[in-house]
Amino acid sequence: GKGEYDHFMLKEINEQPTSLAQALEGRIDPLNGRIALSDFEPGTFDGVDSVQFIACGTSYHAALYGSLALNQAGVHSTALLANEYSVSAPPIDDDTLVIAVTQSGETADTLNALRRAAAEGARTLTVTNVVGSTAAREADDTLFIRAGPEIGVAATKTFSSQAVMLTLLGQRIADDSRGEPPADLESLLPALESMPGKIDDLLEYSTAEAIADRYSRSEAYFFIGRGLGFPVALEGALKFKEITYEHAEGFASGELKHGPLALVTPETPVFAIFTGQEDEKTLKNAEEAQTRGAPVVAVCPDGHPAVEVADEHLRIPDTDPDLAGLVANVQLQLVSYHAADLLDRPIDKPRNLAKSVTVE
Ligand code: M6R
Repeated sequence: GKGEYDHFMLKEINEQPTSLAQALEGRIDPLNGRIALSDFEPGTFDGVDSVQFIACGTSYHAALYGSLALNQAGVHSTALLANEYSVSAPPIDDDTLVIAVTQSGETADTLNALRRAAAEGARTLTVTNVVGSTAAREADDTLFIRAGPEIGVAATKTFSSQAVMLTLLGQRIADDSRGEPPADLESLLPALESMPGKIDDLLEYSTAEAIADRYSRSEAYFFIGRGLGFPVALEGALKFKEITYEHAEGFASGELKHGPLALVTPETPVFAIFTGQEDEKTLKNAEEAQTRGAPVVAVCPDGHPAVEVADEHLRIPDTDPDLAGLVANVQLQLVSYHAADLLDRPIDKPRNLAKSVTVE
């Protein structure tokens, strides 16, 4: 049941310290500076020279996160919408690994793309929450995210666990594919280990409810981020529109001036996500929106230069840039939740949507 919570979504947001700790249990060894994914020993991905991620919706945002992290680690990779795959799949060869990311393991679009990739000779791997699901059974390999059952239609704890497991898996792939461990493994492992505790604290000090209260009658809501903050901007907007029924969009920070800025007014709050990757540029982009009257909500650590500039601050802990976007996402989940609650929406079962989309 929902226990002390009014909605499953809020319960599942609050479960993230536990679900992440569960995902990581026995899979990292920070003392020895190594990844301990038992089904993926060193050498598993020897010979892989490119990776294609396929997924839909929130899982696509996790996939994009994983793909950008893999590119940063020096491995060619792309994230593709599974429903676009049959018309726009990049070429596949023997050295291509295709990774399906699907919480349920039953999404028809993702299964179709997975089958197509396998038929073309790709090696396949599924990252999922559901043991025994179709995608888990059909892929060559499987990585379970161990988030526990997610009841709310809006994916929350499964997103964070998917993104974290993809970050870890990406490090193993990069290590095998390039023959050397990625440079940032040493800082990543302790950061992963401390992530559940930092999210636990964030859930206590979050001021997301007050921010939702102040802005929940706006005309539209924009989310901007760069690098690993970009998929988080997309996810922030998807969650917001899905449960509030309000217009929300996510953009790469630098794209704002290439069109979307025309939409920006004093009635359109802009949530700017700072991950430590070229933050000064994102701050400049946010200021361009502020100049047009938009309230800017900076999602960043205390003491960050954006705090001084922005109208509002949603605090996140200091952490590794590989993970900062994911803790920022927890603040955005809470903003969406509280905005939807104030607007009296049926949060756990938004209109027109299903938890698992088993039709094409
Ligand atoms: O089960 P899957 O991860 O394959 O589902 C994919 C999407 O339908 C899903 O992530 C959807 O976008 C979420 N309900 C959004 O919160």
